[in-house]
Amino acid sequence: KRLILIGPPGSGKGTQSPIIKEEYCLCHLATGDMLRAAVAAKTPLGVKAKEAMEKGELVSDDLVVGIIDEAIKRPSCQKGFILDGFPRTVVQAEKLDDMLAKQGTKIDKVLNFAIDDAILEERITGRWIHPSTGRTYHSKFAPPKIPGLDDVTGEPLIQRKDDTAAVLKSRLEAFHRQTEPVIAYYSKKSAVVNLHAEKPPKEVTTEVQKALL
Ligand code: AP5
Ligand code: ZN
Repeated sequence: KRLILIGPPGSGKGTQSPIIKEEYCLCHLATGDMLRAAVAAKTPLGVKAKEAMEKGELVSDDLVVGIIDEAIKRPSCQKGFILDGFPRTVVQAEKLDDMLAKQGTKIDKVLNFAIDDAILEERITGRWIHPSTGRTYHSKFAPPKIPGLDDVTGEPLIQRKDDTAAVLKSRLEAFHRQTEPVIAYYSKKSAVVNLHAEKPPKEVTTEVQKALL
């Protein structure tokens, strides 16, 4: 399966991805995670991406298209992948379709995490992450057993630099202006499934599983 997860910040893409990944043995390709790793490692890519990410703006199409082009060619991704946070502009979507056409494949399904903006601030400002595994918690909706520590490793959790109410505003603006057109783009060509992303995590998982039957 070749899947795209699309939705605003905090809509649950990163929460559902590991579950889908396990169930269908897919590779999880999250451009946000890859960019954050590059920023932390101060690679040339990270240096170029840092400023836009901190402001909640999109990084340039060329940078992210390059990352995905490399990733979908990996032997481990040949059985299929979950794209989490990519494509985020129509240009990225067109480039992706070209790359896949060269491999003789295409996107099977686009899962649209539809949700009202008003719910997202609480989700974003309460998020806690275990940096090395990407495991995600929420202080209210999915609290760790011991506050501030990862359930599995006992290591400290961190908050993302862009997870503030102010930066969320620009991230949402970018979503509506640049990413929503991608949903319309795929409605014309592949199966877009609209999920009720405001529901509790388990119910969203059930909707995802039904969509992938
Ligand atoms: P990215 O990392 O992709 O961030 P995002 O799109 O803003 O999405 P989030 O990770 O915030 O949301 P999510 O849907 O994964 O939410 P989660 O499941 O964790 O991108 C970051 C930046 O990188 C961008 O701003 C941009 O600069 C750059 N970038 C990345 N890709 C790019 C691209 N293709 N082009 C250009 N630039 C790019 O859930 C959030 C919280 O809510 C968690 O605490 C979770 O526990 C909780 N939660 C989840 N589901 C539920 C539920 N159903 N009910 C209650 N709580 C829930
Ligand atoms: Zn995410």
